[in-house]
Amino acid sequence: MADSPAQFRGQARLPRFAAPLRYDLRIRPDLAACNFSGAAAVAVAVSAPTRFLVLNAAELDVDRASIRFQDLAPTDVTQFEEDEILVIGFDRELPVGEGVLTMDFTGTLNDQMRGFYRSKYVCNGESRNMAVTQFEAADARRCFPCWDDPAFKAKFKLTLEVPSDLVALSNMPVVKETVSGPIKTVYYEESPLMSTYLVAIVVGLFDYIESSTSEGTKVRVYTQVGKTNQGKFALDVAVKSLDLYKDYFATPYPLPKLDMIAIPDFAAGAMENYGLVTYRETALLYDELLSSASNKQQVAITVAHELAHQWFGNLVTMEWWTHLWLNEGFASWVSYLAVDSLFPEWNNWTQFLDETTSGLRLDALAESHPIEVEINHASEIDAIFDSISYDKGASVIRMLQSYLGAERFQKALASYIKKYAYSNAKTEDLWAVLEKESGEPVKDLMTTWTKQQGYPVIYAKLNGHDLELEQAQFLSDGSSGTGMWIVPITSCCGSYDAQKKFLLKGKTDKIHIKEFTASQSSDGDKNIWIKLNIDQTGFYRVKYDDELAAGLVNAIKAKKLSLMDKIGIVEDSYALSVARKQTLTSLLRLLNAYHDESDYTVLSHVTSVCLSISKISVDSTPDLNKDIKQLLINLLQPAAIKLGWDPKDGESHLDVMLRSLLLIALVRLGHNETINEGVRRFHIFLEDRKTYLLPPDTRKAAYLAVMRTVSTSNRSGYDALLKIYREAAEPQEKSRVLGSLSSSPDKDIVLEALNFMFTDEVRNQDSYYILGGISLEGREVAWTWLKTNWDHVLKTWKSSSLISDFINYIVSPFTSEEKAAEVSEFFACRIKPSFQRALNQSLERVRISARWIESIRSEPSLGQAVQELLQGTA
Ligand code: BES
Ligand code: ZN
Repeated sequence: MADSPAQFRGQARLPRFAAPLRYDLRIRPDLAACNFSGAAAVAVAVSAPTRFLVLNAAELDVDRASIRFQDLAPTDVTQFEEDEILVIGFDRELPVGEGVLTMDFTGTLNDQMRGFYRSKYVCNGESRNMAVTQFEAADARRCFPCWDDPAFKAKFKLTLEVPSDLVALSNMPVVKETVSGPIKTVYYEESPLMSTYLVAIVVGLFDYIESSTSEGTKVRVYTQVGKTNQGKFALDVAVKSLDLYKDYFATPYPLPKLDMIAIPDFAAGAMENYGLVTYRETALLYDELLSSASNKQQVAITVAHELAHQWFGNLVTMEWWTHLWLNEGFASWVSYLAVDSLFPEWNNWTQFLDETTSGLRLDALAESHPIEVEINHASEIDAIFDSISYDKGASVIRMLQSYLGAERFQKALASYIKKYAYSNAKTEDLWAVLEKESGEPVKDLMTTWTKQQGYPVIYAKLNGHDLELEQAQFLSDGSSGTGMWIVPITSCCGSYDAQKKFLLKGKTDKIHIKEFTASQSSDGDKNIWIKLNIDQTGFYRVKYDDELAAGLVNAIKAKKLSLMDKIGIVEDSYALSVARKQTLTSLLRLLNAYHDESDYTVLSHVTSVCLSISKISVDSTPDLNKDIKQLLINLLQPAAIKLGWDPKDGESHLDVMLRSLLLIALVRLGHNETINEGVRRFHIFLEDRKTYLLPPDTRKAAYLAVMRTVSTSNRSGYDALLKIYREAAEPQEKSRVLGSLSSSPDKDIVLEALNFMFTDEVRNQDSYYILGGISLEGREVAWTWLKTNWDHVLKTWKSSSLISDFINYIVSPFTSEEKAAEVSEFFACRIKPSFQRALNQSLERVRISARWIESIRSEPSLGQAVQELLQGTA
């Protein structure tokens, strides 16, 4: 065993005695036959004598006879499929030093959206293939044999042999092109040191537009032929972001060029390949007339995110996937910084609380995981591209930045980038730099947040002149975990000028009211309010005692609180209610304090809470459901009436977003007037697709309204939507239709929409739109459908994280223990690592809902409170 190839099996990482320095790769894709052939020459540094070279390869045919290390032919070549490794054995020890490993190989251009794959598009009415790579996390090994581990950085020199009429792109600029009949050979410059997961190739028919940064870096956006107009917005955001990041990280953009390209079949939203960033079409293309305000934001955030990676991720790379959050959390956080500076009117940092909210919601599950996760096999990596790495990651960075101060933080980041450029870093490397630059206990503080799952709720109560604080781990199932954190507490009393900040290091602490600098509060002041976690910069929740909670309700009504604090209060209160730490009754009373709110950022959280209450009440208190819905409609309607359906000249971006948000919420709450008006406008739109009565921003609301009225006996609305889908050229429009098709209350229509997903009219990448739209009435039929079609679903979506969406969307809406047991039984013999976590989390959500329902049923005064609130006497 010790001397056999099998000794390298079952290891999380490749052995380190040989490492690649330079890859010379020649690759020839055949777009018609959907395969490729390649030749690799890899300069390898052998650092300890060995008889073996061990590298990654998967789903590749490596031509054994072609393998040489210098002049030496191997005696033994073994490919372990399960471990995705290729072990090349020689009859003698390879000497320490540098040598070149050469080999030829072939593979398939697959249809799985990973590795080297094909994507389909139509050009001049003709269906064509393009060849595209997607290597993150561990799929470069599906294109060429390599040391497919982020820490094995090497230089890459690519040569592509492609049909002469096509555009062939890679990370670096072209140095030379030679044409020989139908095939051209394209030679690219050698790259700087980089990780394998960032190598990229795209071959197809494209047009481009170009601009350049203040430093002269050429930036291009490639689109389908004739569509470059839709790339302009992203190009502008890209150029500005590059300039901004260059200053922020105090390091120039590391490569000679940057290309960004839209790919019709794409598993994620976008991928930060070094110098050649790939996007879903919806995440890159923006059209003044055809896109919505929220499409525009999505494009800006996605571009800013991927370009942040060019520094954070590509130049400095995580040492191993355990530190994935360094890549993703940082890129997410920095993207808000960039977009905020480009579009200050979007109030982007307040919108950032959407990220914090999803992080907090997921991390309240027992089935969550720490930010830093142990990774033992490539198949485990995909599952950690989740809200913990992204949203909790970004949120704890914001928390730290706010604790250290923006300037100190930026300086330290810049020196971290300098120190680790062209190399790799671990989480503690970042803490060490920040600690050195700031003199603060960064490592101790942050370790409690990244190595430990979950987060605390701070119980706050007033005891005489003392504000007493106590931390306990917050879990949505109502139990208390054992976690303890170092919590950066911020608080203010009566005014944002009277603040107090400190680190809560133990379980409890207290603040004397007098400690609030400039405190204006005095005994008996009825208007005193105390808000902890100012502007929600901390990744924790707060549970106030009754007196403090009442003070905050008054402060909301008196408009004393910031938008972020208003969001924090409603989100915490909702979470505490789900966890049965607070009644639904009191949550409804709190919501009432938001009745004249008119800000998009706040109302987006309020509506999300409203929709969740409306759903749970269907199961918990069916007889109250109608009244509760009416109550929520009453809450949202004033703002909706003010905005109406029609856009107004010169109105703000956020008001445009708000209109769409409120109309959709009112449709979902079953508000008849809104549904009727949506249907009316839809009919006008059917006659005239250019009508000003239904611009892209309100279209989704109208589509959903139509679907609320559709049934098997009255299906013309569904058919009309399908027609719109088929005729729409724009993916963003197609996604709006897909997102409504399954929202009918009629089970047979839901089933029809689900089956539509399996036709070749819907790209596999788009399944989640249909899944995300399933009506509450359709959940049972969706579950039966999933069981019936599980084999097909697994086969089609197995190799991307999209498989988890099927489980999340279909299982999570259930609310009973029995259902959880049934689901769990179905999957008992079907479980796979790629969706294990999604399943466990979905089941946990079902059980949490089941308990929440029980507790709502036992709330004695709920019915009466609903009546009072409806009559405005509360
Ligand atoms: N590196 C990711 C893309 C990725 C995701 C690769 C999952 C492999 C598995 C990229 O930087 C990313 O984070 N994309 C986001 C978009 C962003 C705006 C949050 C995405 O795809 O959703
Ligand atoms: Zn990312």
